[in-house]
Amino acid sequence: MQADFWHQMWHSGRVGFHQADINRFLQAHWQRLGLDNQTSVLVPLCGKTLDMLWLKELGHSVIGVELSEKALQDFLEEHRLVGTPTSHPDLTGYEVDGLALFCGDFFHLRARDCAEVGAVYDRAALIALPPSMRQDYVAHMKAILPQTVPQMLIAMEYDQAALSGPPFSVGRAEIERLYAPDYHVDVLESVRFERKGVATVETAYRLTPA
Ligand SMILES: C[S@@+](CC[C@H](N)C(=O)[O-])C[C@H]1O[C@@H](n2cnc3c(N)ncnc32)[C@H](O)[C@@H]1O
Repeated sequence: MQADFWHQMWHSGRVGFHQADINRFLQAHWQRLGLDNQTSVLVPLCGKTLDMLWLKELGHSVIGVELSEKALQDFLEEHRLVGTPTSHPDLTGYEVDGLALFCGDFFHLRARDCAEVGAVYDRAALIALPPSMRQDYVAHMKAILPQTVPQMLIAMEYDQAALSGPPFSVGRAEIERLYAPDYHVDVLESVRFERKGVATVETAYRLTPA
């Protein structure tokens, strides 16, 4: 997806993917990753998700990265947070009490930015990307993480011929292929619903270092 597409979505308020509440899969299953609450969590393509605050409340430090400056400004304003600017050669951003919010392209996040990261929370990040970018996303993630760390990944599956993305349809087989041989993939929970008249399954996966 081109950056312009996302900037337009944020500026025109077409952010239907944003959830007014904490993600229910996250609340129900995060503990099944077996993490220490001090673990630093990377939230790629974070938007202005409240899930970052929930993770922070648990004790995690959180690194979010998001293309849209508007998304991050909204996040700060909506939660009355005041950030201090971060220093980075390719990204702008803010530090706020246990949260590091980087603004810019995920592909500019560096290994040194993620040196402490011990887990990843991916809700609608992999599936925001078209097929041609997913392999690069997974490769970049691997390149910047200090080691293979546990992940929660939330994805959707539906008939891609019936609807265009994003969110794109990404099923278990593709996730297993993308993350092999580094991860074992298992399903935490699936929910079925209709989206724009199309049968959809949303699934939370646990990715465990193999
Ligand atoms: C489907 S939304 C999901 C947002 C968030 N994870 C959530 O659960 O609300 C995808 C987000 O990724 C951002 N994005 C898209 N491409 C990106 C990139 N290359 N680097 C950083 N953010 C990106 C978009 O601006 C958008 O906010």
